[in-house]
Amino acid sequence: MIENFWQFAYLLAAVTIILSIKWLNSPATARKGVQAGQIGMLAAIIGTLLRHEVVSFEWIAAGLVIGSAIGVPLAYLMPMTSVPQLTALSHAFGAFAAALVGTAEYYQKTPTGFQMFALVIETLLGYLTATASVLAFAKLQEIVPTRPMTYKGQNVVNLSLFAIAVVLAGWVIAGGAPAWAFPTFSALSLLFGVLLILPIGGGDMPTVIALLNSYAGMAAAAMGFALNNRLLIIAGALNAASGFILSVIMCKAMNRSFSNVLFGAFGQVQEGAAAKTSAKPVRSASAEDAAAILANSRKVVIVPGYGMAVAQAQHKVRELTDQLVKRGVDVQFAIHPVAGRMPGHMNVLLAEADISYDRLHEMEEINPEFSETDVALVIGANDVVNPAARHDTTSPIYGMPILDVDKAQTVMVIKRSMNPGFAGIDNELYYQDRTLMLFGDAKAFVTEIVKELPKAA
Ligand code: TAP
Repeated sequence: MIENFWQFAYLLAAVTIILSIKWLNSPATARKGVQAGQIGMLAAIIGTLLRHEVVSFEWIAAGLVIGSAIGVPLAYLMPMTSVPQLTALSHAFGAFAAALVGTAEYYQKTPTGFQMFALVIETLLGYLTATASVLAFAKLQEIVPTRPMTYKGQNVVNLSLFAIAVVLAGWVIAGGAPAWAFPTFSALSLLFGVLLILPIGGGDMPTVIALLNSYAGMAAAAMGFALNNRLLIIAGALNAASGFILSVIMCKAMNRSFSNVLFGAFGQVQEGAAAKTSAKPVRSASAEDAAAILANSRKVVIVPGYGMAVAQAQHKVRELTDQLVKRGVDVQFAIHPVAGRMPGHMNVLLAEADISYDRLHEMEEINPEFSETDVALVIGANDVVNPAARHDTTSPIYGMPILDVDKAQTVMVIKRSMNPGFAGIDNELYYQDRTLMLFGDAKAFVTEIVKELPKAA
């Protein structure tokens, strides 16, 4: 009876986890996706506790208490803008758990053949993902400097260490390896995780975290093979595939290659970029001017970016949207796939502010509409609206697909200064005739516009 029940729990877990990933595909079904994932995890835990291999519940109970004592406050206390680092931390825990299970299995059972192969992969990926994720967390949380830390010959040193770890791993799999081989390759994996992340800048961490997500999934799937646990294989493989696809999407949207993200030391402000920008004239306007222009428009497309997240301006943006809609203005939102600093960053913020999903449009869908748009209102976005990406072959963002805001009748850009965004480059959009710069903090400026709108004729 119990035997059947845990099998049923595992089946339920597998189905709900698959549905969860499917539902997470769209903002409209994402909440359902999260709930399905939670049910899946609960079913997986209950199913595992019912399995006859469990010999003692004391340690499991202690683990549950410690895990909950860490996990629950983390989930409640971390602000929305810290989701990338929270994700990094949870990958670290998951990967470390997989690596510890692999280590315990190695010393307890010393499996052979394919199971040993799976165990070694699990341990290697688990340890390196664990330390890499902890460092990614520390960089995003600015506990350690976020800038890329590089030195000459770094890639050679890193790859040599990794090669030694792989050779030792191969020896362990082949059999007959000395006792020091397993702990040495585990220690090298831990070290390699740190070395892998050191040369990567904080801004690239979200892409790297998606990749680490994929590694953690592979470690879990390998653990499934080592323990002969099908649920772990299914969940791990899904995790690995979705993490990998996400990192590919992010790289494509930034027009970067994996090697550029991992080894390119990107994300440092290019020297002189800010100084160069301030030399050219731009047209600026007040909140009163902006309110008058918006009030007299038929169609407004709002383009949110990282600055909206920093300023936490989303609720004020909702108020602005409501007021404009009340006046009969058609208000839509253009969402660039890498606007902000994490996948879905803008969607999450706008959903938090209760802005209807129907108003949110992806880049391919909204781009043809800019030529019929009266005002493109850019709120704290920079790189994702930089026309240089279309034609300047020397630009680091050349080839990155962008939102064509420059095709609108009027472009208004809210930002605090002429400072560059993530890519560290000047934005030619700001110097165009139809562009008005609205200098100020996004939340404060939108609040001013909301105040001025009722007075606008
Ligand atoms: P960015 O190009 O980074 O520009 C953000 C702009 O917001 C800055 O120019 C800044 O100008 C302004 N800003 C900052 N704080 C503000 C505030 N309180 N009020 C008003 N404005 C403020 O942002 P984006 O256009 O969203 O592009 C995202 C960039 O991040 C892309 O280059 C992308 O490749 C990269 N990236 C994205 C991701 C994901 S997954 N989204 C992951 C890694 C990297 P001021 O300082 O003048 O205010």
